[in-house]
This record gives sequence, C-alpha cells and structure tokens, in this order.
Amino acid sequence: MTDRTYPAAGHDHAHTEGCETVVRVSCVRHAYEDGTNVDLCGLEFTADRGSRVAILGPNGAGKSTMLFHILGLLSPQEGEVRVFGEAPSRDWPKIRRRIGVVLQNVDEQLLAPTVFDDVAFSPRQYGVPEAEVREMVARALGLLSIEQLAARVPHNLSGGEKRKVALAGALVMEPELLVLDEPFEGLDPKSREGLIALLGRLSAERGVTMIMSTHDIDSVPEFADYAYVLAPGGHIVLKGTPAEVFARADIMLAGNIRPPVLAELFAALRASDPDAPETALTIPEAVAALGEWRSS
Ligand SMILES: Nc1ncnc2c1ncn2[C@@H]1O[C@H](COP(=O)(O)OP(=O)(O)OP(=O)(O)O)[C@@H](O)[C@H]1O
Ligand SMILES: [Mg+2]
Repeated sequence: MTDRTYPAAGHDHAHTEGCETVVRVSCVRHAYEDGTNVDLCGLEFTADRGSRVAILGPNGAGKSTMLFHILGLLSPQEGEVRVFGEAPSRDWPKIRRRIGVVLQNVDEQLLAPTVFDDVAFSPRQYGVPEAEVREMVARALGLLSIEQLAARVPHNLSGGEKRKVALAGALVMEPELLVLDEPFEGLDPKSREGLIALLGRLSAERGVTMIMSTHDIDSVPEFADYAYVLAPGGHIVLKGTPAEVFARADIMLAGNIRPPVLAELFAALRASDPDAPETALTIPEAVAALGEWRSS
C-alpha cells in the first residue's frame, strides 16, 4: 500500500501526542421500535488512535448496536457518540471517507454485480480515475489474497469468501479507522491468521485504529491491545488489556464468555501447583513461561 490517501499530518500528530481519542461512546441508550433496550452505559467506551480494541459480550448484549452507533446507522436517543470529533449520525459525510466497515451480516454490504465492482464502489463514488481504481482494487484484493475472485458474483461466494471481499472493500480507501463486526467469523484457520497479521501490520505501520467485535476469544490476545466487555443489556462492565480482562473470571462467567483455553490451562496448573507460572495468553508466551518453570 502507498501513503497516498493517508493524511500524513494526522499520523505525525498521533505519534507525537500519544493517545488521541478517535472514537468515544458515552452512555448511549437505544430503544429499538419493538421496545428492546440496549443501554451502552457503565464505563465510557473509547478507542485511541492506532489501537486495536475488541468488544466482547454474549449474543444480544449490544455489540453490533454499539458499532451501528459508531457508524451513524443509528442515532443516539440518549448519550453521545463522537468519531473524529463528529457525531456520526449527523455528520457521517464528513468522516465516512476515513472509515472502513465490515458489517456482521456481510450480505447487506455486497451489492455490486461482481467482486471487482464491489471493491471498486467507494473509490468510484469519490471520483477516482478508473485506471487508479483498478490499481486500488488489485491492491485490496491482494491484501486478502482473493485476486482470483475478482470476476465472481458476490452473492454466489462462500461465507468466508464474502467476508474477505467485504474486508477488501473496507480497506480499499486505506481508512484511518476500521470498524469490523465479527471479522473472523467463517474464516478458515489460515485465513484467520492471515487477517490477524494484516490487521497487526496496518496498526503498527499505518497507525490504523480498529474496533472489532468478536466471539473468537482465543484470538483476542493476538489481535487486540485492549478489550471491553458488555454484559447482557449493553452495560459496559470491563475494560483492560486482554490479560487484565481474562483475569476477571467472575465477569467472564457472568457474561457467558468462555475464558481463552490458555487461561484455563494455566488456572488448572496453578490449582495443582501454586508455583506454576502466571497465565500466558499466546503460544510463544506460554512456551517461554512453561520452559522457565521446568528449568526452575
Ligand atoms: N432492529 C432491531 N429491532 C429490535 N431489537 C433489535 C434490533 N437489532 C437488535 N436488537 C436487539 O438488541 C439487542 C442487542 O443486539 P445486538 O445485535 O447489538 O447484539 P450483539 O451483541 O451484536 O449480539 P451477537 O453476538 O449475536 O452479534 C438484542 O436483544 C437484539 O435482539
Ligand atoms: Mg452482533
């Protein structure tokens, strides 16, 4: 990818200033028409520039509802949402170019007759010359390793293929903020690893901010700098690094969130031997911790 469409000044600013808040959700209460209430209150939700933020919580807790508010698809009846300092439901046209989106239901966003046209949709909307559109689409398809899908009809693709096309469409404008609702759902293990690596590079090299809801608990320590936990009803009950969050077994249990398998393993080890190491949440960390323990 090139730096062409990145607002370089913003990035320099981010690196010198440290933590500029890109997204803020302050006690948004949402009443759906049928009377279902989602109260995104409790802790304030923030995402700082360049950070990768996971949103965890049981089915129906309100993760997608929160993302819809961040994307201006819903407007807050109470509370406040700010994205790049703007209210998304009111000022979406001002900020939309800076944001890439993958919805949980990708069928809602794959509407063009071919994969190529679908990924080309945003650059064409912005009047990018066709030759450049072709380059941008090729680059985006290449990032997801789906060049071979370019001529296919999106509707006919497999679930994982559709998600990759939606991701390519989210990345094609080289956004500063990515909002991804269950980005790993339906991806095979190699594709999931590839996506985690790609997101890591975009965050480290480009300072892209990412907000991702997921049920893929074991991956959270690999792709998130910090995580928020939503309880049923939308209440934001916990924020911390993956290690801090997964250390709160009580909240995990109350929220129907299974702890990562490594956290369970280390908890079981410590139950049988109080000298067993503290929890390591990635395989390399676990190998190092267990190696040290064995040699001690
Ligand atoms: N259009 C709607 N009309 C009425 N209720 C809705 C609507 N959309 C969502 N809800 C309800 O709002 C609550 C939060 O739903 P939401 O989709 O935000 O949950 P989620 O945390 O994303 O769940 P999942 O893990 O299943 O994706 C649920 O109780 C859901 O039934
Ligand atoms: Mg959802």
